[in-house]
Amino acid sequence: MTPNQFFPRRDGVMYAENVALSAVADTFATPCFVYSRAALTSAFAAYQQVLTGRDALVCYAVKANSNLSILATFAQLGAGFDIVSGGELARVLAAGGDAGKVVFSGVGKSEAEMCAALEAGIFCFNVESPSELERLNQVAGRMGKVAPIAFRVNPNVDPKTHPYISTGLKSAKFGVAFDDALNLYRRAASLPHVRIQGIACHIGSQLLDPAPIAEAAEKVLGLIDTLAAEGITVQHLDLGGGLGIRYQDEQAPSHADYLGPLLAKLAGRALKLVFEPGRSLVGNAGLLLTKVETLKHGEAKNFAVVDAAMNDLARPALYDAWHNIVAVQDSAAPVQCYEVVGPICESGDFLGHDRDLALAEGDLLAILSAGAYGMTMSSNYNTRPRAAEVMVDGEQMRLIRRRETLADLLAAEQTLL
Ligand code: LLP
Repeated sequence: MTPNQFFPRRDGVMYAENVALSAVADTFATPCFVYSRAALTSAFAAYQQVLTGRDALVCYAVKANSNLSILATFAQLGAGFDIVSGGELARVLAAGGDAGKVVFSGVGKSEAEMCAALEAGIFCFNVESPSELERLNQVAGRMGKVAPIAFRVNPNVDPKTHPYISTGLKSAKFGVAFDDALNLYRRAASLPHVRIQGIACHIGSQLLDPAPIAEAAEKVLGLIDTLAAEGITVQHLDLGGGLGIRYQDEQAPSHADYLGPLLAKLAGRALKLVFEPGRSLVGNAGLLLTKVETLKHGEAKNFAVVDAAMNDLARPALYDAWHNIVAVQDSAAPVQCYEVVGPICESGDFLGHDRDLALAEGDLLAILSAGAYGMTMSSNYNTRPRAAEVMVDGEQMRLIRRRETLADLLAAEQTLL
């Protein structure tokens, strides 16, 4: 998917599908996340195409973008969901998602979350520790239910991505140690209120090289064979998420290149395949629309102070992540090199360094590839209401989350006398 296809430029103005971004800003103000419905559907179709003819389930990783309309869009396309909290489960159910297609990942599931997931009848718990297994067995027993489980094993593979989003190394907090997995499966097989359903791994995010995921699959397949020799059968293999996208000039592999080597390894096995993609389904389907408040020409740098900030898009501040920033409308202003920064009181509050842009105050900027881990990681730092979210579908633009108000922000608090 090329972002330009869904966010084209026509007569000097950037569009989301057939709606000018200037019209979005006029209607809903800024800052505002804008998504293209066609981009979401096309990203999902790319997985479906490669998986045609396979018994496979694509479980969208809700953490990437949990807006109800985005979840509903994927639910309608037949997606399952990867959740990491009771809150995400509630969102999936509210959006009309099928609980029977939900996998529940996460290192610290509470009893209340286990109950809610058992009540809803999810597809599988991805168990990440021995004590989680015991607790889940007890909780399910109390409810008179049997919990379907997979262990999330840690294959100790280097995904070659940012250290904050590498999850499959030995040192990571995620999953159970590969060498402990056999004993854990034996233990699970002896428990009355869990049912062994599958095996899972997730090695990291923004992966650009298909080799590590194929290596992880190879290791896990070896474990599946060892289990089978003991009479323990798993029905599905969940290979997590992680496929990277282009933010700058990265060469993200195509779905065929990424999944091809894996699928080749799985030939001839009666295993259902599960994937948990987040970023590759929504990342390039969304942008953050913002307005230039102030242009400041400092001694060493020029600053474009915009009305979006690190509380809206944390990725640059948190990971030093690069997002393309483009002017929504062509301008006659001179091109200058800018630090694009927000109004927050931190030097780390930047959205982009050293960007060549032709700008005047009041101009609109689009911060691209902001569909994944944008809104979901936003905060109210500096008592800034969270941005609005808008979905564009052809000629239509619809508000899918209203901008927060100051009253929303104060509502949960009390003034002690
Ligand atoms: N499954 C599990 C168990 C995960 O932990 C994750 C992401 C995914 C699936 C989805 O991975 P994806 O397909 O999106 O790569 N906030 C960071 C990314 C954190 C990823 C956490 N886990 C960022 O903005 O880059």
